[in-house]
Amino acid sequence: MRIKTAAQYEEWYKNAKENPEDFWGEMAQNFSWRRRWEKVQEGDFNSLDIKWFQAGQLNITENCLDRHLKDKADQVAVIFEANDPNEPARNITYKELFEKVCKMANVLKNHGVQKGDRVCLYMGMIPELLISVLACARIGAVHSVVFGGFSNQSLAMRINDCGAKLLITCDGSPRGKKQVLLKDIADSALKDCPNVENVLVFKRIEIEVAMKEGRDHWANPLIDEASSECAPEIMDAEDPLFILYSSGSTGKPKGLMHTCGGYMVWAGFTFNNVFQMEKDDIFWCTADIGWITGHSYIAYGPLLNGATQVMFEGIPTYPDPGRFWKVIDKYKVTHFYTAPTAIRHLEGFGLEYVNKRDLSSLKVLGSVGEPINEEAWNWYSKHIGNGKCPIVDTWWQTETGGIMISALAGVTKDKATYTTKPLPGVIMSLVDHEGKELEGENEGNLCIKKPWPGIARTIWGNPERYKETYFSTYPGLYFTGDGAKRDSEGNFRITGRVDDLINVSGHLLGTAEIEDALNQHKEVVESAVVGYPHNIKGSGIYAYVILDQNQEHENPEDLNKELSNMVGTILGPICKPDKIQIVPALPKTRSGKIMRRILRKVASNKFDDLGDTSTLLNPEVVDELIKHKI
Ligand code: PRX
Repeated sequence: MRIKTAAQYEEWYKNAKENPEDFWGEMAQNFSWRRRWEKVQEGDFNSLDIKWFQAGQLNITENCLDRHLKDKADQVAVIFEANDPNEPARNITYKELFEKVCKMANVLKNHGVQKGDRVCLYMGMIPELLISVLACARIGAVHSVVFGGFSNQSLAMRINDCGAKLLITCDGSPRGKKQVLLKDIADSALKDCPNVENVLVFKRIEIEVAMKEGRDHWANPLIDEASSECAPEIMDAEDPLFILYSSGSTGKPKGLMHTCGGYMVWAGFTFNNVFQMEKDDIFWCTADIGWITGHSYIAYGPLLNGATQVMFEGIPTYPDPGRFWKVIDKYKVTHFYTAPTAIRHLEGFGLEYVNKRDLSSLKVLGSVGEPINEEAWNWYSKHIGNGKCPIVDTWWQTETGGIMISALAGVTKDKATYTTKPLPGVIMSLVDHEGKELEGENEGNLCIKKPWPGIARTIWGNPERYKETYFSTYPGLYFTGDGAKRDSEGNFRITGRVDDLINVSGHLLGTAEIEDALNQHKEVVESAVVGYPHNIKGSGIYAYVILDQNQEHENPEDLNKELSNMVGTILGPICKPDKIQIVPALPKTRSGKIMRRILRKVASNKFDDLGDTSTLLNPEVVDELIKHKI
């Protein structure tokens, strides 16, 4: 059951808004439940005790796997395309995936994992990652996937914050020409994680790794030996399904917690309606399972809908910048879902790589993670979609669990640079700085008025921070942290973050985290990090750094490199600043607060638009910043 026409979208939107109980009750019937819910929805944004499908019971893997065995057992669920283009593809049918998941679930059980335990996954994009995620869900363990590009310290923080007792990792992971030494990094992390009792290690790149007796176990032989029978753990709808960390405005990332019932309905419903896949279509989402996009539109959404998808281990530019187009051609991908940063990056290599391939299988293009600029939208539409594919520009967040605003492919209209209209059940609101709701064509801060099934229920271990971050700016509303414009037809265009997070290549990074890392350098006294417009990444990272005047400094170039590498080591390579400017002071208000607005303007070369600087404690420093701007 899905929306088929624009008129039906309007009708469903209205029904979901006016009568959410009936609407979501009906939608939830598209899934298998072990026990029917008693109440569809409870709680609101004041009380924050949000619950969906109360008293309902289910296991999400029964919905992703078991229920397809009747008529799709031999249909391919996952086509695995390795980093090395010469490595043969691995096709995994629904039946095989089901068996592998059950086997892995038994391996986890044999290593003491029980319902409610947290399991951390730090792996490359191989089918075993997907299998492990589902294996956790099968036995009711809460998975917490950490992106393989994060550092040992970032991994340790996440393991400890959620109290994981088992880690699943790989010996390493190929990424283009390089290798990420996952097990080595995990070993350094584990020095600070006393609660991890067992580590399961998948072999991927066949390198020597240290295996700690009693703690570390090779996973592949264990899976092979394990039984392929594993009854699903019956979960309450509101039991946790996973935790996924997202950067916040303090140095510490937030562990967003999603639950079994509501998340399942949201991931399944949004995938079905936004992408509009038909029989024999092939979906490909290029995200990593380490991010929410990979959770909802690789691990869960496609499988909940019994789709066939490509899973890709590599990077867009290896062995050359034509890799995406080659893979689309190779598997006749029909639905392609990627990020604007990748589009902009690949556009820069010209059409030579695109024109070599037959992209005529494509029916639908998707975009996610950051605003897509008009030029990239047009290029994507014209050269990849051959002018015939609708583009679904999907706006959502780790916190929302699934797509919130998007065109429905071929059903509702797309519009360049607009993410268009909210899905049924998503009641958006634009507000001004005081929280007053703005009507019609307008620009303001993007909020959501009513709970939807996929909303993260809390920040793991920190309900106060959950309340403070999302619900305190505008009481009674969920504040997204984004600014947006709305046109006269009700289409939304996201203008970017309005808080102190920076969206770098579709990944949200906290300025405070990067500052904390910079400040660990012995020569750094203080730092301030802001975003600035970057042609490919969307936003780049600009760091202003004050050095200790009582110390001798190395030559500035070496120091900048050292600082940048240090951030890479502490947080992970994606957090490295693009530009570092050594400054004598930072512009501060009389109360000692850094005026980030000015730093952002200077970093963006908007020198004529600095606003009133007279209230600063040290207005003279602004000229200094401009003079030595990088
Ligand atoms: O600023 C918005 C941007 O990404 C943020 C959410 O980041 P994250 O939780 O990492 O999830 C990314 C993948 C869903 C949002 O607050 N964002 C996401 N999608 C879009 C977007 N900005 C503009 N257009 C989008 N389609």
